[in-house]
Amino acid sequence: MNDTLERWGSKRAFILAMTGAAVGLGNIWRFPYIAGENGGAAFLLLYIAFVLLLGIPVMMAEILIGRGGRQSPVRSLATLARASQASPRWRYLGLFGALTVFCILSFYSVVSGWSIEFLVASINGTFEGQSPQAIGAGFEAFLANPWLLVFNHSLFLFITMTVVAAGVAKGLERLNNFLMPLLYLLLLVLAGYGASTDGFGPALGWLFLPSFEAITPTVVFHAMGHAFFTLAVGACALMAYGAYMPEEQSLTRAAFAVALLDICVALLAGIAIFSVVFAQGLDPTQGPGLMFVTLPIAFAELPFGSLWLSGFFLLLLLATWTSAINLAEPMVATLTGMGWRRSISTAAVAVSVWLLGVLAALSFSTLGEFRPLWGRNVFELLSSIPPDVFLPLGGLLIAIFAAWVLPESQAVESLGAGSRGYRLWRATLRYISIPLTLVVLVGGVLALG
Ligand code: TRP
Repeated sequence: MNDTLERWGSKRAFILAMTGAAVGLGNIWRFPYIAGENGGAAFLLLYIAFVLLLGIPVMMAEILIGRGGRQSPVRSLATLARASQASPRWRYLGLFGALTVFCILSFYSVVSGWSIEFLVASINGTFEGQSPQAIGAGFEAFLANPWLLVFNHSLFLFITMTVVAAGVAKGLERLNNFLMPLLYLLLLVLAGYGASTDGFGPALGWLFLPSFEAITPTVVFHAMGHAFFTLAVGACALMAYGAYMPEEQSLTRAAFAVALLDICVALLAGIAIFSVVFAQGLDPTQGPGLMFVTLPIAFAELPFGSLWLSGFFLLLLLATWTSAINLAEPMVATLTGMGWRRSISTAAVAVSVWLLGVLAALSFSTLGEFRPLWGRNVFELLSSIPPDVFLPLGGLLIAIFAAWVLPESQAVESLGAGSRGYRLWRATLRYISIPLTLVVLVGGVLALG
């Protein structure tokens, strides 16, 4: 595929591709469990603040660079750096992004594999009439089975890389057009169900009434990482999509629309899941299993429970799929940008992500006690350090490049917000996003060690 000439078919297709990237496990699986571990409402408040103060401006910077360069992230950065008489080393930022998505996709694919397993189990009616204890124990037993985890991880990665091999513009545009609206509809139904349970009131209180003592430096650090993760910002992945963005589309409006939608989906998922958690007296701080345990328990007791549950896991998989495709794209684009054929690049990425993912999958059994850093095993490392540290670091560098390196003449017209809009955006990056990211990142990293 010629990566300088390809364009999204329409503005709508670009927005859909962006939301496809943003909306995924981050909103539906990761948000509830990280919020659960970090105090609920306090986390939600901080996460929304970070989306507004960092997420949106940095997302705009990323897309702007991609659209300005119209190539793979590495080459777009190199081209723009040259045009701005800055160091050609800025291109390494593209490689760092590829490393980040490499780590993220490996654990992402493993968890997506859990959704495949749960989709099949709910279609088979496995959860019907089971007690909460039995469902919890079933999940533990599933995690302890390395073969099953590796099999599902492999299957998910295979279907993802098949779409990637076909080329982003062709493969995704068609998919996104009908899958995404379906997803939002199904989530609304699930949140509506949550509203009919007696956990609804407690869930709302827990999600929306922050107690300010709950805001600790770690909570702030996790909220920032999650804001980047859920918006798909900080790894040059949106930069890779920006390269296909129509010339006449407003970047500002696209970024706000995607962020708003992303928050809404997380809120709907949060309401659905925490209503169940409180209605059933479950533990909101139980970690990555939260969604996988709570929903089968709730639906086991309902009429047509298996049907709703199958719908939910199907929806989750579709959302996850489009996100995983976005995660793969910067790596594939980097290799094709170096002159590799798309098919070969895709295969190389698939094999390496698969290998790292196997280590992540085995962290629930064989490799559970292999803890190379900070007392965390491979899964725990991959699911925390790249989102909390790599993404903010990448986002910081992207912001510095856009706000301090790129000359005004390069950026104004791309932004599509006039020169006053440009000034406001640049000032936000320079005086809010950059210092804020730096402070939270340094604080968080020091607290890790
Ligand atoms: N945002 C996605 C989610 O919430 C995950 C994701 C897709 C992502 N592309 C990304 C995260 C790029 C970081 C960078 O599930």
